[in-house]
Parts: sequence; structure tokens; C-alpha cells
Amino acid sequence: MKDLFDKIRDNRGPIGMHAKESHGYFTFPKLEGDISPRMIFRGKERLNWSLNNYLGLANHPEVRKADADSAAQYGFAAPMGARMMSGNSDLHEQLEKELSDFVHKEDTILCNFGYQAMVSAIDCLVDRHDVIVYDAESHACILDGVRLHMGKRYVYKHNDIADCEKQLERATKLAETTGGSILLITEGVFGMRGDQGRLKEITELKKKYRFRLFVDDAHGIGTMGAKGGGTGEEQNCQDGIDIYFGTFAKSFALIGGFISSEKQIVEYLRYNMRSQIFAKSLPLPLVVGALKRLELMRNKPELKENLWKITHALQDGLKKAGFEIGVTNSPVTPVFMNGSIPEATNLIYDLRENFNIFCSMVVYPVVPKGMIILRLIPTAVHTMPDVTYTIDAFSKIVGKLRSGQYMAEKIASF
Ligand SMILES: Cc1ncc(COP(=O)(O)O)c(C=O)c1O
Repeated sequence: MKDLFDKIRDNRGPIGMHAKESHGYFTFPKLEGDISPRMIFRGKERLNWSLNNYLGLANHPEVRKADADSAAQYGFAAPMGARMMSGNSDLHEQLEKELSDFVHKEDTILCNFGYQAMVSAIDCLVDRHDVIVYDAESHACILDGVRLHMGKRYVYKHNDIADCEKQLERATKLAETTGGSILLITEGVFGMRGDQGRLKEITELKKKYRFRLFVDDAHGIGTMGAKGGGTGEEQNCQDGIDIYFGTFAKSFALIGGFISSEKQIVEYLRYNMRSQIFAKSLPLPLVVGALKRLELMRNKPELKENLWKITHALQDGLKKAGFEIGVTNSPVTPVFMNGSIPEATNLIYDLRENFNIFCSMVVYPVVPKGMIILRLIPTAVHTMPDVTYTIDAFSKIVGKLRSGQYMAEKIASF
């Protein structure tokens, strides 16, 4: 028998196995200074396209003031305990009410982490008689929630409505034998490729199949829809979304999340969702901070307008320059390239050190071997010169990639 620690020393995981060469640069980099398009990386200012600060709220003066004032007034300890026992407050309830209005639902439950909220809500909503149908490219928090499910699950090909219908058919047959129900889970905006979940078409399937729809709209809240109410609002099908999840970690530039639905479903979650019953509630400064951000989202439409102005300029400019950006129809902007991992490493090093551009890179095993994705996240506080500079820099690095310049034997060292 192997000792557990020896086993871990022998196999450090698919990403962890590269920790020695990548830690501090490709993984766990430190971006310093105020959250903005210009941040310090390794002592030098870089143009930063890697944060989901979509609306630029992270460093908005009103947000910074509200955060500082509420931290001074309440401290981060209050309230102590889980909501159900001793951690409730008028401000928590006010935020829930305002979020419900924002996403057009009857009621809302606040959650202390988005990831945990999704996992725990899935766990709470279904039992072993129920069947889950979900998109194949779902975020890890959905996959982990599904892993907790004791009953059957059917996965459909990413955003493939015909396959989704096929899986619903199978799920229906099964649920009829178990006496269970069907929960369909997908995303509003898929964070890697930037394509919207085909929510409208999925809600149309309700005419034929009996299921409830749970949408993780982490990237859609604040960015999509006429008023920022999310991807259901954008596709005019918010009513067909039975359970709506939003995080505070992206447009809100905070931490935490929420789930909105009918009153009775939210009440059920309040009294049954283990991650909320058995964990401390959101500290008051975060609640007050979220209220301020929501107020700005409602009252400053120019934030979302600017986000989209930058998004369109970046995506149109990249396409015009010959880049492949896939099927995005959200601000998430993946730029697809072909190359090996050493080439990707050298390319990103060049981009950071010589062009002073910081963005995220995705390679195998997250995407197929030979594919490199550079992922750009435009925000409301980027400028048009940022866009032009970046497209120009990308044209230069892709030229080098194609001519084999990054194939050098020596991997970038830092
Ligand atoms: C689609 C999706 N769902 C859920 C989460 C988790 O949210 P949080 O960071 O609030 O835990 C993320 C964040 O990465 C996400 O992209």
C-alpha cells in the first residue's frame, strides 16, 4: 500500500506537474496596484486584459468609498454565524430584494461563494429519483454539483439543441419510471469561448418536455440584457429560467453570489441548502458593497455601453486583422492560435515582457493538444488606443508564431 503523501509527491496533478517551471509567472502571477487596465506585473506596468471586472466597478470611486466606509462602520466580522442561526440582517434582506428586482424574479438567496452556491444548490434541488440534463462544457461548479447527484444524469453536446432534446427524451423516460423530475442546467455565457447558452431555444423545449431550467449566469449578470439583468433578459426568455444564478466575482467586482427564483423555491433553498445553513453569512461590508454596485449598474448605463463599445472594437478589429475568435457573442474574447506548449510559453513571455500586455492563456489539457487560446476580457475602463495597440501587438506575435520563431529550444525563463 502506498502512503498518501508519497502518492501525491509522485503525481502532482495535470497543472500542478508544471508548478516548478510556471509558478509566479504563468500560474499564480501577482498583479499589483489598483484593479484597472494598467497594473504592475514583476515591477513593470502592463496593459491588462485578464480580469472579469467587466463594468470597471472594482476601482470606481463610489465603490471604493462605499467599501471603505462600510468596512469602517461594520468591520468584517459582522454578522457572526450562518443566516439561519444568527447571521441575518436587514441589509442582507434588502440586497436580496434589490437583486430579485434586477433579475426579474420573486425572491433571492445570497450565497457566500458563487462556486459553492452552484454545487450546493444542485445538491439541494434534486434527489436520487431525479434526472439532471446538462451542457457538456459546463463550468466546474456545475460538474461538481452534478457529481454529488445520486441519480442519473445525461449530458448533451455543447449548445447542441438537437442533442439536448434527445437527452431530455431519455431523461423523461427515466423520470417516468423513477417518479422523479428533470433539472436542466446550463450557462448564460460560457466563460471560455464566450458563446451564450441557447436559452431561448431551451425554454421553447418546455412546450414538449417537463423540466426546470437552472442557469449559471456568472458572466452574463451586468453585461447582458438591456438593463444588465443577464442573458435571459438579453434573449427575452428570463421568465423561462426557473432558477437563476449570478456571482459577485465578475461584473460586481466583489465576492459572493446569489440564486433567484420563485418565492417558495428560494425558501426551500434557505432552509435546505447545506452550504448556507452550515456556513457563515456574507460579511456586512460585502453586502453594502454589493448594494452600491447594484445601484451603479442601474443608474450608470454608460458603464455597460462602454464595455460593449470596447468589446465590439476589439472583436471586430481582431477579425479584420485575420484572427480566429470563434463563436463569441459576449465580451469574452478568445483568440485561437495553433502551436505547441513550448511555443505558447514563449509567445506569452514575449507578449508580457516585450509588448507589456498581460492576458490569460489556455493550453492542453484544458483545450485539445496543439491549440492555444489567448483570452481577452474587455472592460468599461479600457480605451480605444488599448484596443488598437493590442491588435497590432497580436499581429506581430502571430507573425512570429507562424514563422516558427517561438519554436526555440530554450523555453522562456523568468
Ligand atoms: C460560469 C461560472 N460559474 C461559477 C463561477 C464561480 O463563481 P465564484 O468565483 O463567485 O465562486 C465562475 C467563476 O469562475 C464561473 O465562471
